[in-house]
Amino acid sequence: MQNLKNQTNFLEAIYNKEPYKDAGIDVAHAMVLFGVILAQKPKNILELGIGTGVASETILNAIKYNSMKCQYDAVDFCMQFSETTKRYEYQGHWAYPTHEYIEKLRKENVNLIGLDERVFVENCESNKYDLIISDADHERAGEWADHIFRICKPNGIIFMHDIAGTWYPSLQKYMEYINNHSIPHYLFEKNSRGDEICQRGWLMIINKK
Ligand SMILES: C[S@@+](CC[C@H](N)C(=O)[O-])C[C@H]1O[C@@H](n2cnc3c(N)ncnc32)[C@H](O)[C@@H]1O
Repeated sequence: MQNLKNQTNFLEAIYNKEPYKDAGIDVAHAMVLFGVILAQKPKNILELGIGTGVASETILNAIKYNSMKCQYDAVDFCMQFSETTKRYEYQGHWAYPTHEYIEKLRKENVNLIGLDERVFVENCESNKYDLIISDADHERAGEWADHIFRICKPNGIIFMHDIAGTWYPSLQKYMEYINNHSIPHYLFEKNSRGDEICQRGWLMIINKK
């Protein structure tokens, strides 16, 4: 059960770190992601946008718990400019991963891909991933929404972050796509505590094709 404990210890540690609101995703949403990986048993995971590493660490803990072979691809263009990633930089829109964290992921055999999201997604083969976590290009990702559904396997699962509200109009293309194609989904966006950040929205999509 050590990997379950690793995950809860990790989440408690980030929760207690100030400012909690700067965490990449809410603890509640990380728990959903962790549970889905434990239950879905994905063989191929794609993460778009590493940021603070809350989702990345959650994915790693879940893969370790599953004790099965799983290819974990992580795309983040910040790896193209490694000098600036040597320190934690909060840029207003997002936090870049630290250089040390990228090295940790490398040691954990994560397949690190230092490309722009659009370049990677548009050139990726179809039906490749069981699970996609999308939290990179908030301003433009709607332009290649079709490709995200294309590269995810039938009945695969897609998580989109920051989709609630009107902060990122481009991401609304995903809502349009799932509504137009009657694709099953659930938007986790409720807070029950004053200190949560769930209102940013964690959209879970079942990729019915
Ligand atoms: C909001 S953060 C991701 C937060 C992450 N889910 C977490 O748990 O901390 C966004 C990340 O996506 C990366 N990113 C932003 N735009 C991108 C793009 N066009 N292509 C690739 N990576 C991008 C940034 O460098 C940053 O690391």
